[in-house]
Amino acid sequence: MRPKIHAHFAITADGKISTKNLTPSQFTSPADKARLGEIRAQHDAILVGRGTVSTDTMSMRITNKKLREARTARGLSPEPLRVVISNAGKINPSWKIFEQPGPPVVILSTTRLPQKLRAILAPLCDLHLFESPSVPLHAAFSMLRSEYGVKSLVCEGGGVLLGSLAAEGFLDEIHLTVAPTLFGGAGAPTLTGFPGHFLPNPLEFRILKMQKIGDECLLHLKRKRIYGKFDSPRNETLV
Ligand SMILES: NC(=O)c1ccc[n+]([C@@H]2O[C@H](COP(=O)([O-])OP(=O)(O)OC[C@H]3O[C@@H](n4cnc5c(N)ncnc54)[C@H](OP(=O)(O)O)[C@@H]3O)[C@@H](O)[C@H]2O)c1
Repeated sequence: MRPKIHAHFAITADGKISTKNLTPSQFTSPADKARLGEIRAQHDAILVGRGTVSTDTMSMRITNKKLREARTARGLSPEPLRVVISNAGKINPSWKIFEQPGPPVVILSTTRLPQKLRAILAPLCDLHLFESPSVPLHAAFSMLRSEYGVKSLVCEGGGVLLGSLAAEGFLDEIHLTVAPTLFGGAGAPTLTGFPGHFLPNPLEFRILKMQKIGDECLLHLKRKRIYGKFDSPRNETLV
């Protein structure tokens, strides 16, 4: 059984999530940043790829006190679990997410993570190391559900991670902020990673909500359930 998987991203009008130099993703309005906290507050965990944690120096926290209190009133922890994924185990113990205090951090990685680094990280987070060259996503998500009670999570980047989730059908809903900005650049990443990497099959979504706030357009998309030759029952959300 896996959690329900949402994604929350900002894209430019030309479909980029960052520039070709992978500069931090700070191109949306303060209203959009506030919405980020609201979406985080709806989930049991936040998931990001190693590239995004290092580039965006994220804390993966909910800074709004009212949102934290509302979660507590609902019988939840004040903030969601923070989950970082890396195949190669390139985890930097000086990342902001390891500053204390804060909600627990879970690292999903493989036995490629060096032994020395494991000893340094052990007091800072929960390490889940899979004995395979890459993290088996289905097993990792099932583990999050069974060991941490994660029924829903939100992936906040980056494109490489979202591309891998989409390729394996682990994507149920997308919250997208379309900013009236152009980055250009053939090599700049999109929602599903770098140009040239195709998904094995197209994924189709319905628009649940479309809203204009200031100069930005907010889209809430929900995956269409299709069980045909381009899909499989494994993609079903079992929540
Ligand atoms: N506009 C937005 O909303 C938004 C959101 C997030 C990020 N960004 C931008 O995107 C850029 C970073 O993009 P990115 O694509 O490099 O970031 P990313 O997906 O966060 O990081 C890629 C790395 O994450 C790990 N990873 C990804 N998928 C994995 C999987 N299925 N299993 C195990 N590990 C996995 C791998 O780490 P290892 O190499 O260590 O194995 C991979 O090299 C930054 O410029 C950031 O600002 C924009």
